[in-house]
Amino acid sequence: MPRPRAENPRNAFASVRLTAEERAEMEMAAERLGFGSLSEYLRHLHARAKADAVEPESNGHALARTYPASGIRTFHKSRLGRMLCGDARCHLMNGAAEQSVDLIMTSPPFGLVRKKTYGNEDAHRYCDWFRPFAEGFRRVLKAGGSLVIDIGGAWKPGTPTRSLYHFELLLMLCEDYGFHLCQEHYWWNPSKLPTPAEWVNVRRVRVKDAVNCVWWLSPTPWPKASNRRVLAPYSASMRDLLKHGYKARLRPSGHQISDKFGKDNGGSVPPNLLAVANTESNGRYQDYCRRNGYPIHPARFPEEVPEYFIRMLTDPGDLVLDPFAGSCVTGAVAEQLGRRWTCCELDEEFLKGAMARFVPAVQVHNQSGDLFPAAGGSALRKKAVTYSINPPCSVAVSEGDVPLIEDGGLTRPRVSAKRKTVKQAPRVAAG
Ligand SMILES: C[S@@+](CC[C@H](N)C(=O)[O-])C[C@H]1O[C@@H](n2cnc3c(N)ncnc32)[C@H](O)[C@@H]1O
Repeated sequence: MPRPRAENPRNAFASVRLTAEERAEMEMAAERLGFGSLSEYLRHLHARAKADAVEPESNGHALARTYPASGIRTFHKSRLGRMLCGDARCHLMNGAAEQSVDLIMTSPPFGLVRKKTYGNEDAHRYCDWFRPFAEGFRRVLKAGGSLVIDIGGAWKPGTPTRSLYHFELLLMLCEDYGFHLCQEHYWWNPSKLPTPAEWVNVRRVRVKDAVNCVWWLSPTPWPKASNRRVLAPYSASMRDLLKHGYKARLRPSGHQISDKFGKDNGGSVPPNLLAVANTESNGRYQDYCRRNGYPIHPARFPEEVPEYFIRMLTDPGDLVLDPFAGSCVTGAVAEQLGRRWTCCELDEEFLKGAMARFVPAVQVHNQSGDLFPAAGGSALRKKAVTYSINPPCSVAVSEGDVPLIEDGGLTRPRVSAKRKTVKQAPRVAAG
């Protein structure tokens, strides 16, 4: 098929005079950053220069003035890290040294979209709010470092449709700040309740929303990483295969599976779906907060999420930064794994509660609530928990008895008190 014609074809040429050294250097830089040609690299440099010229507020110098080092202070120091209290932008633009961080592991606030009518306009607003952080991330991250953002989706109020804000954020980080999407991950929380109940349980037109997106990005396509650090136990069938051997053959998919498939690599490479229940409600952290009257952070991620990325993307001694620290889970895990760390948090009350993770010594709960004291700060130890997911469509349903909801859930069904059956009711506005 002939290629479609470009509307604005790039057929104007400009010759750029360079020394052989300059050319080699530029080609290397282009390749390192993942550009296919010098032309693409030059266009990217030009776009950044243009953005700096027309948007002085997003320019590094202006941001450094707007967010002075005095906007953040040390709250607590541990053996390997420190909690900073104040605006993370002050640390990103002033406090932290340029190109000093190996991994930014974070979960930014997304509640702030919820309060508004987060349609498209608010997705843009979220991106605009995020820009100074993105600028700071570029400033402090090492070239071979990684940026990992755990970000939950959001529903638009009043309709069973989703905000695009986290996708817009991803596009902005890649297109405007030159990050590369190394791999999207999804954190599946098996204990997530079926919300929003209105769409899932009452009108029955959507399913349970149980995954968060986790964007793994890097300034280059080649951040340091090894999946050998995050292996999962082999399945029973794989263990059997390793024991009894495997005959090389063609799979129904057409893939040739060689006899190397039968090699024991110590564990299986996990998928990009992290199955971790977020159920901790009576751990040491909560007890400490309740005892001392500190607020329990409402949006914590479980240790397993930062643990996975810290292990896969950093070495002991590397520096991990969480600019939106909350209850400082990232810092506690980094400390356990022998990484240096910095956590920034605006709200001092959350940091007071986060101290539970550091006094008198770092201690970690597993998902069953068992407490493991840090073994010389060397590693997190916990029992492996396996979750299974039941296949949908495996309960027999007579389609004739279950009509589709023709109006897509626009009208709210009425529950008959007598028979507890659900009937379609006249239109009522959702929300
Ligand atoms: C989703 S929570 C992070 C929770 C954390 N991952 C945990 O497990 O506890 C986001 C946090 O970012 C903090 N925050 C918001 N804006 C900030 C800023 N400019 N600088 C530092 N922290 C900020 C909020 O106070 C909130 O505690």
